[in-house]
Amino acid sequence: MNETWSPDSWRKKPIRQVPEYPDEEALRAVEEKLSGFPPLVFAGEARKLKRKLAKVAEGQGFLLQGGDCAESFAEHSADNIRDFFRVFLQMAVVLTYAGGKPVVKVGRIAGQFAKPRSEPTETRDGVTLPSYRGDIINDIRFDEEARRPDPHRMLQAYRQSAATLNLLRAFAQGGYANLEHVHRWTLGFLRDTPASERYQEIADRITESLRFMRACGIHPDTVHQLRTTDFYTSHEALLLGYEQALTRIDSTSGEWYATSGHFLWIGDRTRDPEGAHVEFLRGVKNPIGVKAGPSMTPDELLKLIDILNPDNEPGRLTVITRFGADKVAQGLPPLIRAVQREGRKVVWSCDPMHGNTIRTASGFKTRPFERVLQEVRTFMQVHAAEGTHAGGIHIEMTGQNVTECTGGCHAIAEADLSDRYHTHCDPRLNAAQALELAFLVAEEMAAESRDFAAAGAKRA
Ligand code: PEP
Ligand code: CO
Repeated sequence: MNETWSPDSWRKKPIRQVPEYPDEEALRAVEEKLSGFPPLVFAGEARKLKRKLAKVAEGQGFLLQGGDCAESFAEHSADNIRDFFRVFLQMAVVLTYAGGKPVVKVGRIAGQFAKPRSEPTETRDGVTLPSYRGDIINDIRFDEEARRPDPHRMLQAYRQSAATLNLLRAFAQGGYANLEHVHRWTLGFLRDTPASERYQEIADRITESLRFMRACGIHPDTVHQLRTTDFYTSHEALLLGYEQALTRIDSTSGEWYATSGHFLWIGDRTRDPEGAHVEFLRGVKNPIGVKAGPSMTPDELLKLIDILNPDNEPGRLTVITRFGADKVAQGLPPLIRAVQREGRKVVWSCDPMHGNTIRTASGFKTRPFERVLQEVRTFMQVHAAEGTHAGGIHIEMTGQNVTECTGGCHAIAEADLSDRYHTHCDPRLNAAQALELAFLVAEEMAAESRDFAAAGAKRA
């Protein structure tokens, strides 16, 4: 793997999940155009995120990563972005309080458009068309023209990402992230939610802390950290022509950075160590992630770590495990032990979504909330047992009141799924389920730190 890397060296490697564009000329023209467009994010921001993730790798922080499975052109609106950001901040406050550590906030947003698919084609009533691969590639409508990959969609995805990011930057820096407001929204959520009494205790403790701080003169008007936040973007680096066009040399460091988002990850289907996606990501200096499902062996993970983080730089690599609630207890320990044995520094994050997808009798893809929660719980227990840090969660969520995952405090049943099932790809936690998950993870964190303190007391 010592061959020279360049932004296009992936083109010589075997590639999976690649759309077949009928018009190669048009594809080249669009990529050329994109390569002259302004960067969406800056290298200095990616470096700052990497430093924060380095802290997480050392156990001094928690990564909260989440957003749509697939962003869509149709759902692009200020309200959707605002509602996502609001719930995401609420989750972050709960987790910050419970863990007593900074929460690094990374959205699956402003670039999360391209989707890997299990089948290259889809057949309905005897008609076979290319699969939908995300709005950056083709249209979800089931007709021949809509499903034809169209490179011009990359330009629209770029512009939507720029507009989304612009609003997020304004929200993060312009007062929307005010800690007291965010907490007030959470209190409102608890008032309107059945069976939420168990979360009230954590919320009350946050209320008390804020009151005490205010009495000491520490409040959003006096301390800017309480009215602003750092927020980062991420997506799966799947459509490599698009990624290459937005990869630039940073003038400060002279190094290559992907500027389509702060953090990019490699999906579970494209993590072949010899393949194009690994080749592309090994050469950019951003913090990156790799998904690890049940088929990942310890040796393969070590090989990927060697390629993607040869200098063992903490914060560079996040391993996002997604085993499924019933497989994580068995599958995760061998990976952790191999990484520990070799002294490799990674952030361990849990994606409790992609291993827990089921199809209902009526044909809806869904995820039972209980199984999502169970995977996070087991992930945290395994890390506690191995003496490693359960560093974060990676979830598919929206700020809207959709009915895509069953369960949660509003007890969404299979029969309710058809009410508001809007996702362009996988089922997402709705606003209430996402915040409830944060409260439940908070309970686990509190239990973990109690166990840790008790173990410390015993040792002393
Ligand atoms: C995803 O994150 O939307 C995804 C496709 O995940 P995975 O690569 O883990 O299947
Ligand atoms: Co998904």
